[in-house]
Amino acid sequence: MPDAIAASTEANTELKERVRQFWQAHPCGSKFSDAEIGTREFFDRVERHRYEKEWHIPLAADFAATKGLRVLEIGCGVGTDGLQFARAGAIYTGVDLTEAAIDLARSNFASAGLRGEFRVADAEQLDFPDETFDVVYSHGVLHHTPDIQAALREVHRVLKPGGRALVMLYHRGSYNYQIGIRVLRRAGAGLLRSESGIKIVNRLTGEPIDSLREHAASLRNAQGRFSSAELLNQSTDGAGNPLARVYSRREARDLFRNFREVDLRAYFLNKRFIPLIGNLLPRSIEAALASRWGWHLWVYAKK
Ligand SMILES: C[S@@+](CC[C@H](N)C(=O)[O-])C[C@H]1O[C@@H](n2cnc3c(N)ncnc32)[C@H](O)[C@@H]1O
Repeated sequence: MPDAIAASTEANTELKERVRQFWQAHPCGSKFSDAEIGTREFFDRVERHRYEKEWHIPLAADFAATKGLRVLEIGCGVGTDGLQFARAGAIYTGVDLTEAAIDLARSNFASAGLRGEFRVADAEQLDFPDETFDVVYSHGVLHHTPDIQAALREVHRVLKPGGRALVMLYHRGSYNYQIGIRVLRRAGAGLLRSESGIKIVNRLTGEPIDSLREHAASLRNAQGRFSSAELLNQSTDGAGNPLARVYSRREARDLFRNFREVDLRAYFLNKRFIPLIGNLLPRSIEAALASRWGWHLWVYAKK
């Protein structure tokens, strides 16, 4: 193997291990429930919070359309969307890089009395035969894996001919990225240098003080200034997140160039960065604005 390729493979392996450790320690969605982790009450609260805040997901995913189909979810987290596929009658398989997520997703299904198959697996190297699934679903996952091209080759490989991929990626053209992160978060990072600044940010954004202190510690580790890439990593899924990327519509189309049909739709205004009026917007206006400047770019692709 040429030296440059070997070095980049090694760097990806090391980064993937940091990604795994981060999600192993912070199973996705678990901070949105204060019930005892792993109980039915815990999963119900995670689910309620998810579909209240991201109310577009059931519309965008159309769980009901998967009745009788073989669905693979990549990066299933605690299995909240997985449960909707299973309730709709899909034959569901969930994989995730971490044991923490897979253990919780299994408990979620068991306590709901639903069937699903679960495996710890890496999106970039799936151990399923070619043409196994009718649908591959992946929500908020592939922008966290070091080699997204490898992951999408796997999505394509395991889909049956005519099968569909539904993949949500963070959107470069969103208000959340262009204004919330690049302008407001960058300005807010300056305030995190002092305890009084932390309190001001807490009052302005509602972000918990503990979380802001973790961000302040990350900032100190970065000698007081994040690079653009690091600012993005730290601004999406909590302090210490080792990797997050954003994609423009054109970049997303290019990633899915091996698929026959590709359609893109943007959803979800992250209202934390829309001061004062954010929470007053009616859903119809929110959806219209999100269709252009939403943070979640859904890719619908057909093999
Ligand atoms: C932000 S959470 C999303 C979980 C769930 N899809 C949701 O929307 O709530 C990201 C998940 O992706 C998983 N993940 C990250 N990289 C992965 C990879 N290469 N292969 C499989 N899962 C991965 C993480 O372990 C974590 O559970």
